[in-house]
Amino acid sequence: MTLRSLPIPAETAPGLGLDGLAFGCDYNPEQWDRDVWREDVALMRQAGVNLVAINIFGWSHVEPRDGEYDFSGLDEIIELLADAGIGIDLGTGTASCPPWLTTAYPEVLPVVADGTTRWPGGRQAWCPSSPVYREKSIALVRATAERYGSHPAVKLWHVSNELGCHNAACYCDVSAAAFRSWLEARYGSIAALNSAWGTAFWSQRYDTFAEILPPRATLSFVNPTQRLDFDRFCSDELLGQYRAEAATIREFSEIPITTNFMVAAHITALDYWSWAPEMSVIANDHYLDHRLPRPHVELAFAADTTRGLAGGSPWLLMEHSTSAVNWQPRNLPKAPGEMLRNTAAHIARGADGVCFFQWRASVSGSEKFHSAMLPHAGTDSRGWANTVELGRIVTRLAEVRGARVHADVALVFSWENQWAADQEAHPTSDIRALEQVHALYGALWDLGVTVDIVPPGAPLDDYALVVVPHLYLVRDADAAVIADFVRRGGHALVTFFSGIVDETDRIRAGGYPGAFRDLLGVRVEEFAPLAEHDAVALSDGSVATIWTEPVSLTGAESILQYVSGPLAGMPAVTRNRAGAGSAWYVSTVLQPASLRAIVERVTREAGVHPTAPGAGAGVEIVRRSNDTHEWVFVLNHTDAPVEHGFSGHELVTDRAISGTTALPAGGTHIIRQDRSRP
Ligand code: GAL
Repeated sequence: MTLRSLPIPAETAPGLGLDGLAFGCDYNPEQWDRDVWREDVALMRQAGVNLVAINIFGWSHVEPRDGEYDFSGLDEIIELLADAGIGIDLGTGTASCPPWLTTAYPEVLPVVADGTTRWPGGRQAWCPSSPVYREKSIALVRATAERYGSHPAVKLWHVSNELGCHNAACYCDVSAAAFRSWLEARYGSIAALNSAWGTAFWSQRYDTFAEILPPRATLSFVNPTQRLDFDRFCSDELLGQYRAEAATIREFSEIPITTNFMVAAHITALDYWSWAPEMSVIANDHYLDHRLPRPHVELAFAADTTRGLAGGSPWLLMEHSTSAVNWQPRNLPKAPGEMLRNTAAHIARGADGVCFFQWRASVSGSEKFHSAMLPHAGTDSRGWANTVELGRIVTRLAEVRGARVHADVALVFSWENQWAADQEAHPTSDIRALEQVHALYGALWDLGVTVDIVPPGAPLDDYALVVVPHLYLVRDADAAVIADFVRRGGHALVTFFSGIVDETDRIRAGGYPGAFRDLLGVRVEEFAPLAEHDAVALSDGSVATIWTEPVSLTGAESILQYVSGPLAGMPAVTRNRAGAGSAWYVSTVLQPASLRAIVERVTREAGVHPTAPGAGAGVEIVRRSNDTHEWVFVLNHTDAPVEHGFSGHELVTDRAISGTTALPAGGTHIIRQDRSRP
């Protein structure tokens, strides 16, 4: 089944008017002399680059003084790229304000929760609610859009850059006033806000909206609904900046507009489900995070989530890295084959283009140790050879453009839930919602099952199984969609600390897991998180850690039991027949093998199969297809060769294969198969 429940963005990567898949980069010519520009453009052609993002951090060059524009540099680089037939992803340049702005208007600077200012000298030092920033940035966008709005080489507008990467939340007085207006619009009356926020607690009752502040640093725990609403407000406030820039561009230009999302493990500040419908094309930035246990599995999750945001349509990988980044504690270079494997993984999961940060490695500034398509070592380097080789392969993959990914499993995921679930003063501080999402996704990845990531409330009719990891906050209507799906014959797997609160972070009384209690046929009276390093034995011989629950059965059957500790003999995993379907509940943190065994059983009962035989256990296999062809992506993440039995035309090595084919350690094969052949 394909994702078709979400609003489909108006245009997709094919709408950019490129011949094949997008292959490109961020390019910062302002860091280089003019003669380097010419060399760069010639080398871009050599590498097969067809889309270049420019003017991302261009503000201080384009507007060196308040209201004085100098487009000469941009004019020149745009013509150079246009003459070379390279498409342009034109930044609005508003990502980082110039020093003249913050010097003349220091009130633009963001303030953090403890009331201290964050100063210029880095990037993104602006308050999302600042009227001065809004006025000055929109003036810049207007001048830029007016000048280039119908330039034939401009294929895409790139609003700002990674909105909210550093400045998602500002706690200044201007932000406080904007927060109050946002709350008035949301609640209508102070009585409704008091009720939603539960302000009867700790003498927090407000008499007027004027008394409300953002959740600034407090002595004790802050009101959790105040915090949750502030998270929502922050996401909306930056979306407001996107909308203002996009509306200004639209006065002058019909070209698609986007901004680069950060669907990633370390940044969770924006609710991209609400942003996605506003993009012409969904674009994401993704960097492997070596602080995670399995970075390539997180990559797959991020790519699937991005496809979900695109409503199943193709999307654009706006940034990833050719090798090491510069911002993790230890910046590991990519192993041979890894850049291709990462690229192929994004394309396999729906990307119709892959771009890098950045073209030429900087020699100054804080990103000078970040890898690039053209490394410090120059063209006489393995890095450059890899770039050229990858360009050839991506050019060959043009035929994949527009093909879709199919999944029988939906995973319900929400940023808003993370904000609520990860708050302080919860039963344990050892749980992070996203880790639980990754654990369940990882089990499906290990089983070679392709998954669509959907928001709460998405229609599930096209799926056989829905998995609901750690969905602490869920609206009644969204929980009802899952229950209806099961009653009509679907299968659901829900994990602990789901269904607990409504959208105001208010507990559903009567027993946990609240909204899913009836569906799951279980009832829990009290959570039983474990002490640090503690574990209890389970009936499958594994152990449970971090979290347990005394589960009473109210209709479900016990599948796996706790066998040691105070809960010995009680169910740890259950299954409930509900209507024509079944609903499983996992009440604890299972070890990966144990979780995989449960997920394997659930998928089998739901009739869900791996994408292909041999998928899983370090070998990722994903299919994209259109009416005539299917492309099988086989990615060997292990350090040993593997064999597969796919026949067809292999596009990495550009040759026909059949029978059994060896795929080297770390290798990638992409096999085109004819769907019309019997
Ligand atoms: C992104 C950003 C780029 C560059 C890159 C480095 O966050 O959009 O400008 O900083 O990271 O990995």
